[in-house]
Amino acid sequence: MERTSIGIILNGVTGRMGYRQHLVRSLLAIREQGGLPARDGSRIWPELTLVGRNEAKLAEIATRHGLTSYTTDLDAALADDSHQIYFDAQVTAQREKAIRAAIEAGRHVYTEKPLAEGLAGSLELARLAAARGVKNGVVQDKLFLPGLRKLKRLVDGGFFGRILSVRGEFGYWVFEGDWQDAQRPSWNYRAEDGGGITVDMFPHWHYVLEQIFAPVTAVTAHIATHIPDRVDEAGRAYRATADDAAYGIFELAGGIVAQINSSWAVRVYRNELVEFQVDGTHGSAVAGLRECRIQHRGATPMPVWNPDLPATEDFRGQWQTVPDNEDFDNGFKVQWEAFLRHVVDGVPFPWDFLAGARGVQLAEAGLRSAREGRRVEIEEITR
Ligand SMILES: NC(=O)c1ccc[n+]([C@@H]2O[C@H](COP(=O)([O-])OP(=O)(O)OC[C@H]3O[C@@H](n4cnc5c(N)ncnc54)[C@H](O)[C@@H]3O)[C@@H](O)[C@H]2O)c1
Repeated sequence: MERTSIGIILNGVTGRMGYRQHLVRSLLAIREQGGLPARDGSRIWPELTLVGRNEAKLAEIATRHGLTSYTTDLDAALADDSHQIYFDAQVTAQREKAIRAAIEAGRHVYTEKPLAEGLAGSLELARLAAARGVKNGVVQDKLFLPGLRKLKRLVDGGFFGRILSVRGEFGYWVFEGDWQDAQRPSWNYRAEDGGGITVDMFPHWHYVLEQIFAPVTAVTAHIATHIPDRVDEAGRAYRATADDAAYGIFELAGGIVAQINSSWAVRVYRNELVEFQVDGTHGSAVAGLRECRIQHRGATPMPVWNPDLPATEDFRGQWQTVPDNEDFDNGFKVQWEAFLRHVVDGVPFPWDFLAGARGVQLAEAGLRSAREGRRVEIEEITR
């Protein structure tokens, strides 16, 4: 079958996200399935060029996966017209200037979140991309998680009646790095390197809340650095200058109250690493990464508060499991396919730089709320 080749520069491919989710689980998986059907009957075929700082590491990854194109010279890769798309999964602090260069070179840009470290920089990238006429997108992978897809299905089907509240619990224990290695990179815990759980997670919560429920109108947040001293990848002790927990209350249009705890200093007593409980007048749901459970108003028990007696009801057993009813592919891959169709066939792609900028705006507002000890309203932004 005829191929429509599309040259993609992958920057940050030696990192956790760049390698596992974007290279292996998305783009190589698309190649393994024979490419992606395009409108003209051909197959969209990603041609990959790996970019990074360490040539030996790039060569090793390329060889492992049968790839031949890699370079440590980003400018040269951007100047090469066989590349239509620039993708960025570098550390956040390096992103803005690389994307700016990609836009100037006339490349379409897809990127990990957060789009930039601040709102001003994010909006500037959105403006530059629009002015240069390049297509642009930001990863919003949580929307494609099976659990959240089922939750969206329930919202669209009117299951909840009037939605009252959303309670989100995200997190797990990230080891300090002294007596056991930390399972996240050390830059996550240094503000000066673009770290912090608020800038990491609030962009996710922004699109989850906005696209499943309603736009966020205000935020009140309290943040903390619970573990102030950590040990890095090289075994050196360092001071954690960034927040490792964020406790946020998000007011949504229409009166829904969402409260989400995000923490890298919490031990998991949950079914999944993130769970959202949604309560509505007609029913409630608890959704995780994969599973979603519901309780309808007609099946709601009537607990009576009596601390003198042991609990008599199996509360968890009173919920029903929502069936899959469809096949769920890897969320990063699903969004990559949408972006490739956007570039090749012009299929609309709603998760653009402006959407990414709104996520950064919420993170910035959350940090301001915590710093100033007050509720911060979210202003509508445009390019
Ligand atoms: N969508 C998600 O669920 C999700 C999850 C985790 C991280 N992320 C985002 O992905 C990005 C990468 O995170 P990660 O966890 O993969 O980090 P990582 O530390 O594992 O990888 C970072 C990559 O950037 C490169 N890099 C490091 N320092 C650099 C520098 N000074 N200059 C240029 N490149 C440098 C590294 O070589 C590596 O390839 C971050 O922006 C993060 O916010 C997204």
